[in-house]
Amino acid sequence: MTTSIPYETGAPAPRYSADLATTKPGTPGGLFMRRFWIAVARGKDVTQGAAKPLRIMSEDFTIYRGASGAVHIVDAHCPHRFALMHLGWVEGDSIRCVYHGWRFEGSGQCVEQPAEEAGFARKVRIRAVPAREYIGLVYAYFGEGEPPAFPPFPVRETPGVLDVWNVEHVPCNYLQSFENSMDEVHVAFTHAPGGSHAPLALDLPEVSARETDWGMLRLGTRKTGKERVSLHYAPNVTRVIVPPRAGMDDVGGWREIYFHFTPLDDENQLWFIAGHIEVTGEAAEDYRAKQAEYEAKIAAAPPAGFVAAELMAGRGVYADTRHPDLAVIQDIATQAGQGRMVKREGERLGRSDAALILWRKILARELRAIAEGKPGKVWSVAPKEVVPTLGF
Ligand code: FES
Ligand SMILES: [Fe+2]
Repeated sequence: MTTSIPYETGAPAPRYSADLATTKPGTPGGLFMRRFWIAVARGKDVTQGAAKPLRIMSEDFTIYRGASGAVHIVDAHCPHRFALMHLGWVEGDSIRCVYHGWRFEGSGQCVEQPAEEAGFARKVRIRAVPAREYIGLVYAYFGEGEPPAFPPFPVRETPGVLDVWNVEHVPCNYLQSFENSMDEVHVAFTHAPGGSHAPLALDLPEVSARETDWGMLRLGTRKTGKERVSLHYAPNVTRVIVPPRAGMDDVGGWREIYFHFTPLDDENQLWFIAGHIEVTGEAAEDYRAKQAEYEAKIAAAPPAGFVAAELMAGRGVYADTRHPDLAVIQDIATQAGQGRMVKREGERLGRSDAALILWRKILARELRAIAEGKPGKVWSVAPKEVVPTLGF
């Protein structure tokens, strides 16, 4: 399969993996990702009044929640002499630099400079990007011009609990994990220890995929003829039905998740997962209590990323590892273990890789259009009728 992207400059085409996987500003991959809303934080982690640093797609920002409750994202550094903005004070919906007190509105406009002449402030502006909240997550738009429609995708409207799980920092490129989420076959092997995904491992599915207006739809067809439908919203969200988390199989059963793979930079990503479970009333209370218990168990255990790193380094036995967050450890070890940003030229892809092959083709086509200065595909928001199914 052809994987390199022709560049009009005549310079040799960058290697395939870097072409498709990079999200650095100014690269075709970076420009592509910046056409979409990207999940950047859990809403509950952006507390009123406390600014924090935020790194997304190899760029640094400051994120804070103002007095109005709105989330603002501005540049990491003050334009005066480059002090870190998150060291400063949130005042109303503005932020004041800790170094010499310049104050900026959430729009990025400088409105106060205590030691400067009147009139200077209005000529100074800091970069600000639009931020919106949805399903417990903060999304930001890093591109030029008007952002696309919001919310970026529909969620299930049936009654139930929609909550956001713990955030995972994973030390590899986001595309490795987005591709893993298209790889139905890994489940039978990667998640065999611990047995969390056992019903999906009874036989191996035939994987197929097709491009849609909003991303890609994937089918895993079992020998029984049953189909597991999963959705991939462009550019980095997978909507799929997954097994209960350890110790939670008696509440609500399998659940639907909206799994976001957010690039921190080319070699690091964050996993943001919002989960929807169809439980109401007492069952919902039971679920919330179990979920809190589960989060506490995870907090008390060694961090998943640490355990995965130990396994990658050969300390500990993969098959024998047990942990409340075992599936996450298994996924990190198999995905980050490939390398932080993999050169893919030598890969031997097979028929079961159909979905990720199709996504690479879509990505290659879109990045080529960007490199050639063409508009590329206009993506739309998925209709709410298209939903994932369990498939067994
Ligand atoms: S560096 Fe921010 S006010 Fe001087
Ligand atoms: Fe997995």
